Amino acid sequence: MPQKTVYLETMGCQMNVLDSELVLGLLRAQGYEPTDDMTTADLALINTCSVRDHAEQKALSRLGSLKRPKQLHSGMIVGVIGCMAERDPDGIFASMPHVDLVCGPGELNKLPALIEDVHAGRTHAVALSQSLSRRSTPLQRALEYDSVEALDFSRNPEPGPGVLQSYVRVQRGCDKFCSFCVVPFTRGPERSRPPSQIIDETRMLADRGAREVTLLGQTVNSYVNQENGRPVRFAELLARVASVPGIERVRFVTNYPGDFTDDIFEVMRDVPELSHYLHLPVQSGSDAILKRMRREYTVGEYIDLIERGRDYIPDLSIASDFIVGFCGETEDDHEASLLLIERCRFKNIFVFKYSERPGTVARKRAGDDVPDEIKRRRNQELLAAQERISAAANRERIGSTVEVLVEGYSKAAVKAREAEQARGEEVGWRRSDQLVGRTWTDHIVVFPGAPEDIGRFADVRISDATALTLHGTSVRGSWERNRTCGAGSAASPGFESP
Ligand code: SAH
Ligand code: F3S
Repeated sequence: MPQKTVYLETMGCQMNVLDSELVLGLLRAQGYEPTDDMTTADLALINTCSVRDHAEQKALSRLGSLKRPKQLHSGMIVGVIGCMAERDPDGIFASMPHVDLVCGPGELNKLPALIEDVHAGRTHAVALSQSLSRRSTPLQRALEYDSVEALDFSRNPEPGPGVLQSYVRVQRGCDKFCSFCVVPFTRGPERSRPPSQIIDETRMLADRGAREVTLLGQTVNSYVNQENGRPVRFAELLARVASVPGIERVRFVTNYPGDFTDDIFEVMRDVPELSHYLHLPVQSGSDAILKRMRREYTVGEYIDLIERGRDYIPDLSIASDFIVGFCGETEDDHEASLLLIERCRFKNIFVFKYSERPGTVARKRAGDDVPDEIKRRRNQELLAAQERISAAANRERIGSTVEVLVEGYSKAAVKAREAEQARGEEVGWRRSDQLVGRTWTDHIVVFPGAPEDIGRFADVRISDATALTLHGTSVRGSWERNRTCGAGSAASPGFESP
């Protein structure tokens, strides 16, 4: 029998990237092979994002382009999964009648059953989590987590380079209800996974080749679960994940400043496998705006938190998110965000133009009153300020030697070799091909190297820098830390001085 094929396109956050990996694993077990050709696939799925209207419009446009292939290919199933499926199933079916199934992010383990339903003749197959209760506390809900674990349990990646850097979910959902944000509605209440399951999954990934894991949660530092009658919090979880043999580096995203406790800084300082990088979204530099966003901290508290973090970990690098043009944002509020950028000297920032989302408090209580051209200007101004800071900070690193975990070849190198292959020429990596790695502070480093360096550590002397990238050359052969054999390297993480 010919293989059934699945086309899966992923939009949005790392949580969606992980969900897509798990969905593909689930579908492989059902006999589906992934394909890059959406027009001939037996099953076409779009894993959607609802955080901004723009992302939803993009998903609708992709779905629109599946209409014709579906007419030509009888039996093709078109599905919408992820946050948009959860948020607006009726709207999707109304505007895209060729969609067969929608499945929310908390129900993805039901996909095979939904596909069966469509094959059995059901026109619109739906699985949503809208009834999930928020009444219990996060700790009580953590105990009920098992029932929604099915997708994570099914994880069974092929050993190899694809597993080198893996995501591990530690928490689902969010309870914060920031007034602008749709995530608590689409991903449901906050639930933390049992620590033993997280450790087991990390061990399984390490056995198959993972060297770095990134722990995922919407407010990952709020993690709490019960074990043997006592609460396990995020700092303890971090230390336990870091102790899994074979795991050389642990990162985590995203942190909520209001819940951040110093025990996390302590463990980042003391456990050598923990990256010295924090993604700590602030959203605005104005207290008035933060209050209207319901962010539960002030600008002063955010600055104090960062300063404490840098006292614990001098080379701590911090990335942040900003929203420009939130309801009622004045020029003074905007100036306050610019000032905060100067003050905090982030590694990088992500800036988003405010997008009003259905169901949110901001939508109900205030208007989207900042004109788009002003949002655009403020967006550019924040990015320009950060670019100056990043470029200057990176230039200071010229002449220093940094330790990187090598992730793979640069996109340009891969493209060049693929082009050769397409022309039928003999393919082989060149000594000049550029590898990409990351430092302990999450800085991207590009340097020439060999395929055997991938998945290992290298010392790179920096010779050039832009706002986004450090360039250099390896100063000794790459190595493995190889903690499993008790030969741990004592090299201190982060940048050495030039
Ligand atoms: N805690 C989550 C946040 C999800 S949303 C995480 O894991 O990243 C990611 C970012 O999108 C937020 O930090 C915020 O800066 C931005 N964002 C969320 N809702 C938005 C909206 N309605 N308009 C514009 N940006 C938004
Ligand atoms: Fe969204 Fe705020 Fe949660 S940004 S994901 S509601 S912490």
